[in-house]
Amino acid sequence: MKIGVFDSGIGGLTVVKSLLNHQLFEEIIYFGDTARVPYGIKDKNTIIRYAIEAVEFFKNFDIDLIIVACNTVSAYALEEMRENASCPVIGVVEAGILATVNSLDDKNSNILILGTKATINSRAYEDGLEKKGFNNLEAKATGLFVPIVEEEIYEGEILNATLSHYFCELKKPDAIILGCTHFPLISGPIEDYFCKESIVIHSGDAIVEYLEDRFEFTKKYENPTLKFFASENPDALKAVASKWLSL
Ligand code: DGL
Repeated sequence: MKIGVFDSGIGGLTVVKSLLNHQLFEEIIYFGDTARVPYGIKDKNTIIRYAIEAVEFFKNFDIDLIIVACNTVSAYALEEMRENASCPVIGVVEAGILATVNSLDDKNSNILILGTKATINSRAYEDGLEKKGFNNLEAKATGLFVPIVEEEIYEGEILNATLSHYFCELKKPDAIILGCTHFPLISGPIEDYFCKESIVIHSGDAIVEYLEDRFEFTKKYENPTLKFFASENPDALKAVASKWLSL
């Protein structure tokens, strides 16, 4: 299978990393809309318009599947992308909800959902989890983590202050949904803040679980072809990809 992975910027590379670890695909075409990131502070119509443009971009390639790595786009624009695409489109929010449900036996589990302002305002995770019978939910927009990760700050004073700023009044969750592509890069400090006692749901791992449930993968691809595209400064995206994906 040849697939497209879409994100608002570089964060979706964390999803690519999970896909590569599981060697599921022969070719991965990544598109990051680096000229217009962040999406997490934009309104619904803008996010949908950008997402449809990404579908058009992927039409230049003969791909079998589009994976929306961006939580914000998955929360708002999946239906519109599906209407415009000529291949299936799957998103990380649905996968994250299923991974959470599969990880928790107790419906009273206290679940902390983290994401951008747009993702949290959409209530996509909350609505999905409530439908599955989970009601003990806390959703928190933690958008400052996005520029912190973009600045490659993965530890230290600034990150610690931001963790306290967002989390100081929260009780310890049973599960934390990292509902933003960037957050897996600081999952260690987030887990440490809550004394490593919470189950952590990561979009990349969740999408792999989701794919393996729905498709039959008969072959492993140890050396898939990777192509990276960005709407601005593709060299910077490629440099981050080399680092994060150890290429
Ligand atoms: N990719 C976005 C997400 O997962 C985070 C960055 C942004 O705000 O565009 O929600």
